[in-house]
Amino acid sequence: PPPPLAEGTFKTSRFKAPRVNVLAVASEVFPLVKTGGLADVTGALPGALAAEGIATATLMPGYPSVLVALPDAAVIAEFSDLFGGSARLLRGTAAGLDIIALDAPHFFARPGTPYLDRHGVDWPDNAERFAALGWAAAAIAAGETAMTTPDIVHLHDWQAGLAAAYLHARGAVRPRVVFTIHNLAFQGNFAAEKLGALRVPSYFFTVAGLEFYGAVSFMKAGLVYADRITTVSPGYADEIRTPEGGMGLDGVLRARGGDVVGILNGIDTDVWNPETDALIAAPFGAARLGRRGVNKAALQRRFGLAVDEDAPLIGIVSRLTWQKGVDVVLEALPDLLAAGGQLALLGSGEAQFADAFTAAAAGNPGRVGCMLGYDEHVAHLMQAGADAVLVPSRFEPCGLTQLCALRYGAVPVVSHVGGLADSVIDANEAALARGVATGVQFTPVTRAGLGRAIQRTAHLWRDRPAWKRMQRNGMAMDVSWRAPAAKYAALFRACVGESR
Ligand code: ADP
Ligand code: GLC
Repeated sequence: PPPPLAEGTFKTSRFKAPRVNVLAVASEVFPLVKTGGLADVTGALPGALAAEGIATATLMPGYPSVLVALPDAAVIAEFSDLFGGSARLLRGTAAGLDIIALDAPHFFARPGTPYLDRHGVDWPDNAERFAALGWAAAAIAAGETAMTTPDIVHLHDWQAGLAAAYLHARGAVRPRVVFTIHNLAFQGNFAAEKLGALRVPSYFFTVAGLEFYGAVSFMKAGLVYADRITTVSPGYADEIRTPEGGMGLDGVLRARGGDVVGILNGIDTDVWNPETDALIAAPFGAARLGRRGVNKAALQRRFGLAVDEDAPLIGIVSRLTWQKGVDVVLEALPDLLAAGGQLALLGSGEAQFADAFTAAAAGNPGRVGCMLGYDEHVAHLMQAGADAVLVPSRFEPCGLTQLCALRYGAVPVVSHVGGLADSVIDANEAALARGVATGVQFTPVTRAGLGRAIQRTAHLWRDRPAWKRMQRNGMAMDVSWRAPAAKYAALFRACVGESR
């Protein structure tokens, strides 16, 4: 080992730990393809890890939008038969990231989202599609391609889970495997009949392996066969080890003991920077909070709301699903209106919620506005112009919109769950007295719970000095990837140490 450095030396010339090579495996990477926060994480973490001496190459499916972004990619491997078709691994740089695309036209050259067809139905061969991703990851990890064997394989969510099983089946010396849970609700469970086609050894199909109530579970494969498990907040790490929050996998997680840790996500503070954001009406910083008014007016116009600076404007940017508690927002709408508030919702997802918000907007002209679909532009304007951003999730592994809100001086109003509880300091009496509050937390996620939170928020908003203090506190928080990346780096280095 290198000799210890004197303290002064350490501070000026950073200690050079050996470089670690990570193969990240994920089905979404921002800005190449995104359906949720997973993409934000896999798109931003490599850059932050680079500052820690960790080099990341990211393996992902070669969806059309990914291949288009890799015109000069090199072929690093070919498979003559990858679950029913030929495939290649293409490596190149896209959006500043070292990307390895699994070019398997029989699986990925399709319209629609990464998981659903045009009618919103799961592709019938999703098991094979993401098994192929895992198989390719295992081939890279085993040194069977033209790239250097990684030190660490970092698997993200169920889509990457089977890689852990394939690597385990190969035995032999292999890189350490870290599996990160972004959302335990999506488990990748498939009919047992798929087992043979997936080339998983049949003796893996047990309770101690990847069998889950008679199904093949990609998520469970990751949980059982990875060396370490992380999830995206300490709070969620606790919740998923309880029967209430474990989605049937709490026993598996408890059995892993200290191998499970929570590391709170960050956000890309270059993409989300209110001082330089070209997608908002008027850039601003903590010292120029008054300019938020320009963004608020722009947001109100955009959503057909009355342009009124005295109405507290509550914004939502969300997938429209049960997880996100959007049905409770509809129930509590009378409370929001009674408090003098306005609501602007940007969302995409289930038709029942989309229809209900459309109807709510039609029934409350100038007070409720809704935009359906996915729109980066409007998401940024929402953060810059809303007075408060509401995240009333029933469960939330981390949540990124409240982190963006903190950075943009939009006060987050969040349910007391998972990463929401970990990232917002509730404006309770103690926090207000100390001047450290950054937002509002509430529980339970019911009309009554949310109604009270909205009243409390409107009350706080009318106390302008207190509100400004909360905005500035939030904006002063470090929500970047710097601290989380250091934690991942330490975990990776510890794993590398174990394997040598
Ligand atoms: P989840 O991944 O569970 O949907 P997160 O809060 O982790 O929730 O991440 C959601 C990400 O997607 C954030 O970056 C958010 O800004 C973005 N987002 C969600 N819905 C929309 C939408 N309709 N338009 C634009 N961005 C959206
Ligand atoms: C999942 C979770 C969300 C988290 C994101 C990124 O989509 O639902 O809470 O922020 O992954 O880790």
